[in-house]
Amino acid sequence: MRPLWLYDHPRRGIRAWGDMVAKFITFEGGEGVGKSTQIRLLAERLRGSGIEVVTTREPGGSPGAEQIRKLLVEGEPGRWTPLSEALLLFAARADHLARTINPARARGAWVISDRFADSTWAYQSGAQGVALDSVKVLRKMVVGADEPDLTLILDMPVEDGLARAMERGGLENRYERMGLPFHARLRQAFLDIAKAEPERCVVIDARGSTDAVAARIYTVVDERLMR
Ligand code: TMP
Repeated sequence: MRPLWLYDHPRRGIRAWGDMVAKFITFEGGEGVGKSTQIRLLAERLRGSGIEVVTTREPGGSPGAEQIRKLLVEGEPGRWTPLSEALLLFAARADHLARTINPARARGAWVISDRFADSTWAYQSGAQGVALDSVKVLRKMVVGADEPDLTLILDMPVEDGLARAMERGGLENRYERMGLPFHARLRQAFLDIAKAEPERCVVIDARGSTDAVAARIYTVVDERLMR
């Protein structure tokens, strides 16, 4: 028999202890803003509090979605039309949700994803002109009720982010090579998303030391999800 303190979340069937329903956190932002380091630090800190944490990424995060990722990040900047890209991204996302994110949450693990549906909103719609209504329809169809509990948008000036991406090993993927005006539109799109969905999204100033940014992030996670 199941212990009394383990219950099923009414909406999604997620099992959790007390009020600590398994949370879904996403990190978003432009190129070179330091998401992967911050995800590692947040996951370590949460694990230190006894929480099981699964870290994952998009595009990718499941075997099928990783195959789609290769199609998206390799090749020439103009390889796909923005709409084809959006469709590929949502196909990958459906697999990622079904095979990685939802099973982890169903057993009580928190999930932290490096990018999620806001990246399609910002990159394919905001920066590349796919109609926002189309992206929203796809999002409703694919993500439905499985939206993140918290989205941290790491923000810094475009030039700083691209310089950091360069240092990290050159502008390795198609998007990093898309030019400054593209990246300026992208930054603005992420800030617009935060304004449109303030109950889910928080903008984090990603400038400064790794530790300073990690502290800003943990303060928000603690306030929004741990109380
Ligand atoms: P990464 O560099 O953060 O691993 O992401 C790979 C690239 O994919 C990144 O340049 C952003 C891009 N991307 C989109 O254009 N739309 C999306 O929906 C996602 C998830 C990523």
